[in-house]
Amino acid sequence: MTTRFDAPNQSLAPISSRAADAAREAWDNFPALYNANTATKGMTAGNMTEWGLSGAAPKSQLPPISLGGGIPDAETQPRAELLAAMGRVLEAPGDAPLVYGGAQGYRPLRDEIAGYFARNHPSQPTADWYLLTNGAAGAIESICASFLDPGDVVITEIPTFAGSLRTMRGKQATVIGVGMDDEGINLDELDATIDRLEADGRTIKLIYTQPTFHNPTGLTMTLERRLGLIELAARRKILLMEDHAYSELYFDGPPPPTLSELTDGWGVLTVGTFSKVIATGLRVGWVQARPDWIQAMVPARFDMGNSPLLHRMLHEFMVRGNFREHVEEMRKLYGLKAKTLASALEPYGEPYFDVTEPSGGFFLWLKLREGLTGDAVRDFAAEDGLSFPSGNRFYPGNDAGNDGESVRLAYSWPPAQKLEEAADRLGRAFNRAANGS
Ligand SMILES: Cc1ncc(COP(=O)(O)O)c(C=O)c1O
Repeated sequence: MTTRFDAPNQSLAPISSRAADAAREAWDNFPALYNANTATKGMTAGNMTEWGLSGAAPKSQLPPISLGGGIPDAETQPRAELLAAMGRVLEAPGDAPLVYGGAQGYRPLRDEIAGYFARNHPSQPTADWYLLTNGAAGAIESICASFLDPGDVVITEIPTFAGSLRTMRGKQATVIGVGMDDEGINLDELDATIDRLEADGRTIKLIYTQPTFHNPTGLTMTLERRLGLIELAARRKILLMEDHAYSELYFDGPPPPTLSELTDGWGVLTVGTFSKVIATGLRVGWVQARPDWIQAMVPARFDMGNSPLLHRMLHEFMVRGNFREHVEEMRKLYGLKAKTLASALEPYGEPYFDVTEPSGGFFLWLKLREGLTGDAVRDFAAEDGLSFPSGNRFYPGNDAGNDGESVRLAYSWPPAQKLEEAADRLGRAFNRAANGS
């Protein structure tokens, strides 16, 4: 019998024909972006911060240390438990893990996510409240794809997660920033911004907020501010998109309720993910919203769904209690890391920066004092093998404006012992940036 593997070897040279020549001639010198849509033409491929990566190893004699990406601890990923869960999925009879799984994702996993992540929700959501996506980034993309027309406005806190800014711009939305104070988004500024945009005839579709352990500032919005934001958005009839990528990672006690918990889901689309609590490489996240709103998003799903194999693995991981245990460990670990880095940096605070210590999440946000720039501190630190982004990366116009200069330090990924060394290197970078050499 002949199989396709018995076919005689074909030459790897392109087949010579008039058709091939015509194709080459037509496209060889044709700029690939010429046919791209307007949004793509106006964008770059994104920098390391926008992709949540840790940054290139700086050129230095010292071993590199990265405080760059919002990535979980390098040494505690639950590999054995994930492997065992995957084994159980593949050993089970039937082929369901290996065929398409539909638009919303594996129902039992959605139920588990609801039971864990929405445990304090007044409606006790079930699977129907969930659309599983390619991480939180995919959730934000699904929301933008379903609700934004080109030219619509999305209002975001500034600073904010740079990757989300790319997503909104990729849908040809206009992104308008509203400042924050220590309690969260500034409501007077938000109201005035909406007045101005409406007077200009703009359509405002979404307000994007990270109420809990905000990236990059680490701040948590107070309960009072959450209620104020909900009232304002309801009065203006603008949907709230709340991103809770880090909310389970609290150090001492749970944060205030989500906006969805406070409204019973009305007017709120909530984004969540396994990326920060397990591993960014999983690429499993979700939108949580009232079932009608989830159904409104299903038609804009064109990717044949996400991986049923990974959904089942995560379901196994959750039902065995592995997930709950892991999250509890991670809360302790990141609490320790945040304290270690903040204490090691304390001697440099007075001359060089102000910081509000976070009560959860992955980030320390240093507001630099007069005379220092985030770019200079970052560049001097890179000469010593230490990488992190300058704060201006997190502003829509790459300019911090009235907020002044800053840097973001992610303590999540390196081992705790390395954080003291990182603080020493950062101290040297502050001194050098202050002296200009
Ligand atoms: C606030 C925030 N939202 C969303 C994301 C994207 O997360 P995911 O890996 O789940 O797509 C990140 C990643 O850094 C983030 O910090």
